[in-house]
Amino acid sequence: MVSTLSAKTKHYLDLEEQYGAHNYHPLPVVLEKGEGVYVWDVDGKRYYDFLSGYSAVNQGHCHPKIIAAFMLQAQQLTLTSRAFYNNALGEYAEFITQYFGYDKVLPMNTGVEAVETAIKLCRRWGYAVKGIPENKATIIVCGENFHGRTTTVISFSTDSSSRSQFGPYMPGFTVIPYNDLPALEKALQDPNVAGFLVEPIQGEAGVMVPADGYLARAKQYCEAANVLFIADEIQTGLCRTGLMLACDHDNVQPDILILGKALSGGTLPVSAVLANDPIMLTIRPGEHGSTYGGNPLACRVAVESLRVLKEENMAANAMAMGELLRNELQALASPHISVIRGKGLLNAIVIDHADTNAAWNLCLTLKDNGLLAKPTHGDKIRFAPPLVINREQIMECVQIIKKSLESL
Ligand SMILES: Cc1ncc(COP(=O)(O)O)c(C=O)c1O
Repeated sequence: MVSTLSAKTKHYLDLEEQYGAHNYHPLPVVLEKGEGVYVWDVDGKRYYDFLSGYSAVNQGHCHPKIIAAFMLQAQQLTLTSRAFYNNALGEYAEFITQYFGYDKVLPMNTGVEAVETAIKLCRRWGYAVKGIPENKATIIVCGENFHGRTTTVISFSTDSSSRSQFGPYMPGFTVIPYNDLPALEKALQDPNVAGFLVEPIQGEAGVMVPADGYLARAKQYCEAANVLFIADEIQTGLCRTGLMLACDHDNVQPDILILGKALSGGTLPVSAVLANDPIMLTIRPGEHGSTYGGNPLACRVAVESLRVLKEENMAANAMAMGELLRNELQALASPHISVIRGKGLLNAIVIDHADTNAAWNLCLTLKDNGLLAKPTHGDKIRFAPPLVINREQIMECVQIIKKSLESL
């Protein structure tokens, strides 16, 4: 039995319904405060956040050090545009390139902008360095991908709700099945391929974890074909899967690394593309950019967001807590869970139930019981709490999940 909504909650739902575009279908909860692994609604009820802003809040809500860096810089200087230098961008660029081991960074804002940037960079490299004939470059992508919502990026989506009636579509992409090395090998035979763009784990698709060694072999194949290996680590990166990058599980250094989301700990849109000079320097002044990209506020916040990941050992905690969560979920032996999968704290369960709305209904019950999660693709529910969650909290969450499953 799902509880009724308070008048206050209903007020905010009605406002969004009436005045906001209907491009989302949120769970009916209105949040007004967050701290660490918790969020509170407008009636003062506390929840565990098991979505973490789709992995933007890895460091926990309102991490005090990130907020302090934000506040300090917000009172000093927030935006210069790239028409002028500012005293934060250079320091940030040095910090993040050394952190990840690349020559250069190109700063953007949202995740999809960084994906677009990586696509442009890859195509440019394809023409300028690899020598692909003009306008012939292609990029290999994977089925069931999610890289964002721009017209170019949805052009190579295989999800009809992302794509349908938004055409005409951008050419130049070859879709192959995910986790399929023979398909990649075959697609790489085309001499006009400039890059292979891949999510190390497909988050939106329902946390699809590829076979061990898939990324390492894919990288080898790309190298052999003189093709750039481009990792979209917007959701999987920054300790989410138990290591700094999900590619680290396979010891792979992507040619182009795309980061976003938790790069600002959930405070403002900050994304980045990292690459070495032979790739990055193919784009020259005036050829690409963004008004807000590299703004001093974003730079200071990103440095602190990265710093606390290491200072607080969030990768190791994500690894340990993820294993605990999956083991405890397994031990529930619920007849309504058909699959439990994930790495670190990027996890999903697949709901097995005659009612096709069961995953949504379970999320409503979880909400009533104090845990927020959201279904993806109908029957899958992602369990991805902030990486600061501890053992005791995981155990409490498992009890909430158990109780909620029992009422299905
Ligand atoms: C793997 C991946 N790439 C790109 C994006 C797009 O990021 P943004 O919504 O910030 O544009 C997302 C967002 O969920 C993502 O998960």
